[in-house]
Amino acid sequence: MQTGHRKIIIAIDGYSACGKSTLARALAKRLGYVHIDSGAMYRAVTLYVMRHHIDINDADEMAWALSKISIHLSFEHDQQVTWLNHENVEQAIREPSINEFVSNVSTLSAVRKEMVAQQRRMGLAKGIVMDGRDIGTVVFPEADLKLFIIADIDVRTERRWMELQAKGVNIALDEVKANLLLRDTIDSTREDSPLKQSVDATVIDTSYLTPKEQLQIALDLSRSIIGKI
Ligand code: DC
Repeated sequence: MQTGHRKIIIAIDGYSACGKSTLARALAKRLGYVHIDSGAMYRAVTLYVMRHHIDINDADEMAWALSKISIHLSFEHDQQVTWLNHENVEQAIREPSINEFVSNVSTLSAVRKEMVAQQRRMGLAKGIVMDGRDIGTVVFPEADLKLFIIADIDVRTERRWMELQAKGVNIALDEVKANLLLRDTIDSTREDSPLKQSVDATVIDTSYLTPKEQLQIALDLSRSIIGKI
């Protein structure tokens, strides 16, 4: 663990199931930083919208829904726990039904505006590793270190499929792949803050790297920056 006063902001972006959150969590732990999985916030909004049958294309209905939503993040044993209106929804937001719809909800500017404002407040104290789609480009364009994570689509499919199997969700590989590809398209072609590599980001291809190797690369980069400020 590394302590001290020289705290930085680390932004990690990339496609779904490339290993962003796993890397971000491990990196934050080693640096003694806070890890924020920003996707969980979009997932919590999606859960609310689905439970209340909100028409996401109706701006008034969406504005009403957003006024009723309060999202909080807490941390238990280094794991983020997501709260929606004081209910622990950490499990519920990982369900496949959320995976199918979350990218659509994330295209909405009203939703993004709220989430980005909250995420920026979380970064005020620095000492943070945040992962998502627009962290290096929109949330923290001034981040000290930006990583852009990529991986082969078949490797990503396999990883997500194994995660789902471990949770007892029976789903065909092809279906997982189709969902990932659809989310890639929606996330990278939306008008408001599309997923794209920031010009000053370092790309890490995790296809053939173990989590330990990925962490070492990210740690070396982080330490070289922390050592300079
Ligand atoms: O990282 P994840 O799979 O939990 O993200 C879920 C969705 O949330 C993803 O499809 C796009 C959206 N998202 C976003 O638009 N911006 C972020 N910073 C994080 C996630």
